[in-house]
Amino acid sequence: MAKLWGGRFTKETNKLVDEFTASISFDQKLADQDIQGSLAHVQMLGECGIITPEEAETIQTGLKTIQEKLEKGKVDFLVEHEDIHMNLEKLLIDEIGPVGGKLHTGRSRNDQVATDMHLYLRTKTKGIIELMKLVQSAIISQAKENINTILPGYTHLQRAQPVSFAHHLLAYFWMFERDKERLQDSLKRINMLPLGAGALAGTTFPIDRDRVAELLEFDDVYPNSMDAVSDRDFILEFLSTASILMVHLSRLSEELVIWSSQEFQFIELDDSFSTGSSIMPQKKNPDVPELLRGKTGRVFGDLVGLLTVLKGLPLAYNKDLQEDKEGMFDTVDTLEGSLTLLAPMLETMVVNDKKMRKAVTQDYSNATDIADYLAGKGMPFRQAHEVIGKMVIYAIEKGKYLLDLDMSEYQTFSALFEEDVYDFLEPDHVVGARTSKGGTSPEQIEQQLELAQEKL
Ligand code: ARG
Repeated sequence: MAKLWGGRFTKETNKLVDEFTASISFDQKLADQDIQGSLAHVQMLGECGIITPEEAETIQTGLKTIQEKLEKGKVDFLVEHEDIHMNLEKLLIDEIGPVGGKLHTGRSRNDQVATDMHLYLRTKTKGIIELMKLVQSAIISQAKENINTILPGYTHLQRAQPVSFAHHLLAYFWMFERDKERLQDSLKRINMLPLGAGALAGTTFPIDRDRVAELLEFDDVYPNSMDAVSDRDFILEFLSTASILMVHLSRLSEELVIWSSQEFQFIELDDSFSTGSSIMPQKKNPDVPELLRGKTGRVFGDLVGLLTVLKGLPLAYNKDLQEDKEGMFDTVDTLEGSLTLLAPMLETMVVNDKKMRKAVTQDYSNATDIADYLAGKGMPFRQAHEVIGKMVIYAIEKGKYLLDLDMSEYQTFSALFEEDVYDFLEPDHVVGARTSKGGTSPEQIEQQLELAQEKL
């Protein structure tokens, strides 16, 4: 089949080469963006007198016809035409005749593809920010219900100090908030127009890049044509942010998995967000958070893949850059899928507040508070730490918890202990006493919730 660039060639392309170099199987995802970019380019060409206004109009009408056909699924893309850009140009020429060949005046596929990717990522980034807000709202609504739900807080996965479940959940709110801010900030760099860079050096035609930027609602144009066509750091940035976001998502998922285990029973995922076993009738598996955790791997892979593609490339365009797409599409799909599921899964999960509270009455996570109690009565904290350490060993040997020891036992450790120590060690008191800014006391959580809500 005749190639759009066939003039310089005396032989047909080997079929294997066609198949190996083609990107149409995946870059057809960019069809809308490609048409959008072409419409703006051709409008500018007409306005600048590079083609006549009639030619511009004919081409624009042709592009719109193709868009309609695309929407109706009436278009066949061919591997022989390699990618979405040449397939659409070929379809245009078939539709309106040789005048369609004027579309590519003053333009190269190199600035064209970079423009399509910017347009694509701009829309997707905005969409992902909206999905993140849904996850954050789900966190807030669970947090509101669970300000007084107390569970052990862990360090080293060992019981450390009791915390409010709302506080634990809100920790993820702020991680997602920073991810959202990173995405928002990246829009500054995505919102730059590569088109008009030509193949690499600019063009001899009197084009108006600012006008195209205006038509496509970009804030600015790339100031350097070689940079415009050869860098993909706007995609790297997206993949990096996505990787960090997936780390957060994966850590939350990991906790959901642990909390749903028989050993913890802190939460129960709704039946509609759980799966069963083909052999073990009793099973209710947290497949969704497991898979969210698992999908982190592919997003990291997409990032490392593109970093590797770019690291040794000389300027300007190299065909290697075609490898920028599948990873980006994959990460976009993964984020959209993951975030869409996470929000309703969090909203519908049942929190077993009794199990959580029981856990903090059957551990030694109030030990810091007894040390604080003694320190409050004048004993140096380091000494109090030592005393309570001994008391913990004593209690473990007796098979008791700290609240079970009687006053005479307390007083063998320090004469500073009085009856009020028992109230001091109640979980609600322990949690409520952490009133420092950003702490787990209910009043601090209320303030945190207010701040969180302002972010949505
Ligand atoms: N399909 C190509 C890509 O995605 C478009 C640019 C091709 N340019 C070229 N000079 N071969 O990178």
